[in-house]
Amino acid sequence: MKNKIFIPIILLGFFISSCGVKNFNQLRSPDTSLVLDISLDNGILSYSLKKDRKNIIDKSVLGMKTDKFEFFDNLIIKDKQFSSSNSNWSQVWGEQKVIKDHFNQLSVVLKSSKTSYEMKVHFRLYDDGLGFRYEIEEQSEIDSFNILDELTEFNFSEDSPAWWIPAYAYRRYEFLYANTLISEINRDTFSELVENLSKEDRLGPEAVQTPFTTQRKDGITIAIHEANLTEYSSMTLKANGTKYLECDLIPWSDGIKVRTKAPFESPWRTILVGETPSQLAMSTMTLNLNEPNKLEDVSWIKPGKYIGLWWEMIGTNQSSWGSGTHHGAKTKRVKEYIDFGSKYGFDGVLVEGWNLGWDEDWCCTGDGEEFQFFTPHPEFNDKEISKYASEKGIRVVGHHETGTQIDNYESQLEEAFAYCQKMGIRVVKTGYVNDGSKNIKRIDQNGDLQMEWHHGQYMVEHFRKVLETAAKYEVSIVVHEPIKDTGLRRTYPNMVSREGARGQEFNGFMDIKTHNKPNHTTILPFTRLLSSPMDYTPGIFNIKEYRHNSQSDRTINKNHHIPSTIAKELALYVVIYAPVQMAADLPENYEGHPAFQFILDVPTDWEKTIVLNGEIGKYITTVRKDVNSDDWFLGSITNEEGRTVDINLTFLDESKEYNATIYKDPENGGWLNQPEEVEIQNISLTNKDSYRITLPEGGGQAIRFTKK
Ligand code: NOJ
Ligand code: CA
Repeated sequence: MKNKIFIPIILLGFFISSCGVKNFNQLRSPDTSLVLDISLDNGILSYSLKKDRKNIIDKSVLGMKTDKFEFFDNLIIKDKQFSSSNSNWSQVWGEQKVIKDHFNQLSVVLKSSKTSYEMKVHFRLYDDGLGFRYEIEEQSEIDSFNILDELTEFNFSEDSPAWWIPAYAYRRYEFLYANTLISEINRDTFSELVENLSKEDRLGPEAVQTPFTTQRKDGITIAIHEANLTEYSSMTLKANGTKYLECDLIPWSDGIKVRTKAPFESPWRTILVGETPSQLAMSTMTLNLNEPNKLEDVSWIKPGKYIGLWWEMIGTNQSSWGSGTHHGAKTKRVKEYIDFGSKYGFDGVLVEGWNLGWDEDWCCTGDGEEFQFFTPHPEFNDKEISKYASEKGIRVVGHHETGTQIDNYESQLEEAFAYCQKMGIRVVKTGYVNDGSKNIKRIDQNGDLQMEWHHGQYMVEHFRKVLETAAKYEVSIVVHEPIKDTGLRRTYPNMVSREGARGQEFNGFMDIKTHNKPNHTTILPFTRLLSSPMDYTPGIFNIKEYRHNSQSDRTINKNHHIPSTIAKELALYVVIYAPVQMAADLPENYEGHPAFQFILDVPTDWEKTIVLNGEIGKYITTVRKDVNSDDWFLGSITNEEGRTVDINLTFLDESKEYNATIYKDPENGGWLNQPEEVEIQNISLTNKDSYRITLPEGGGQAIRFTKK
């Protein structure tokens, strides 16, 4: 099944003067709200960007230094080509079925005055942002080359509040967000405000990960990210104490940023722009800047919901991944999960600790025993379980924790995914736990050990190899400790989900001082989630006294408390998009609970998504329409503060009456007070109605609208 309604209308040579603009160095977005200006001063190329006539990005330099040539202060514009395209395409699964891909493009052909080499910079302006990329076509004398520096700047016109996580820090992307002015970005500030980083080595510059989001005084919200990160290293943004940021590529161990050859295209550098945070959160530009689906047959890629033998390790602390009395993945226990999952129509059952490799220091250094990816633990009878699952109409979700032993994983990759196919496994969760900053082992061509960053080109290419191999065996993957997403799911729809942020697990194993704060999930939709779905793993119902002191001491550890409420956990199924969504709690906490019905009802594939309102770090309300029915679902969440949010129901079909099943916190409830109380109500509503959502501190609300 090919997934396209593709109607490209490409008008090459569509000069921008035909849009009524005489300036040949200028490009406008289709709705004309964004204006890009290009200039060449003393051989240096730069760009600037306006939104509604206001400068949002000041003049910012472009260029590249390599070991063979430079495109920087020696440039001559040889040619400019304008073009335009307006088409639609359909997603295999997603937040919305049909995506509009409408842009105006300016391609600038540059020649170096010092050499005969040429480079192109392509600028694409959409209504929701700007993308640009560098291209070096095949030309005589350029073969392979190493990028030493990409000089792209992002010079914000206003020093605005920003939400960011540090790059070059020990725990990959798994941090709470700092909220400071752009000019205040550095690791000392982060240590003061969020988490003390001063214990670790200060490697690398002061830089932040992308998506990096900032909101101006006039409300305009801007995020810097990248699209189609392929055979390149990931871009972070270097800070220097001003409002100006600069592209900083994560280097290889020898300092080279990117090893490549012509013909060459960089990832797209993207500046997503919304009038409000809600508008930003609905941007589709990152997906539009990726290549169309490369997989011929996608019938095996199925969105759905899964449960898992997981929380009892990471959350309740009653079981272990490794061998011993408390080993969780024993055949009998796995079958109980299968029974529960099958009874309630779940698509998958994740089983962690099913294989060999967990018994010696698997966490968190990359050392320890080598994981085996097609050899089960003796207590996990793979054939029996696979047969049992198939009889019960449910599939095992596989698990490949690599501990970042990359060579070990790559050497087993083909057999590992062939094993999955044989066992009826259609989704695998992979993992790359390693809590050192530059701690990924690579053996170079001389047989010497090199230490690489988690986000450099070495890992970008590793993650792609895994994704492509998985596709060969009809397996979709959910990556934990991944490389950030840059829209790759369009090209490989088996890239179903990833973690890449602090997820629910931190509420499991961290105590009340260090767990995620209630505002964390009100920041994610405007930062991390701009890039892709997330395996946040919502749905914890046992919020207050869930964690045992240890696997053998089953007394309750009172220092743990999930910073949420059941109603908020339900709302997260709508707020945080994932095509493969987990119900993370133990079966016994769901069985017989009336609020479980919402988890059973909520879909994972949508026709349409609207972010109705939201302020970064405060609250958000999202509505989505099911792709397979007329139902709409709403999720609304708040930070530590209680609030009311009024919405209009104009998204519902006209002149139809809907039954709204509402799951809400008690009015005097909240994450500290009665978090496990949830009120369920049914009322009638139409699209003419308005509705007041009342959210107590740290609470949420979830609604299913069905046509009467
Ligand atoms: C960290 C992952 O985020 C978590 O989900 C997983 O259970 C552990 N690693 C073990 O693989
Ligand atoms: Ca993780």
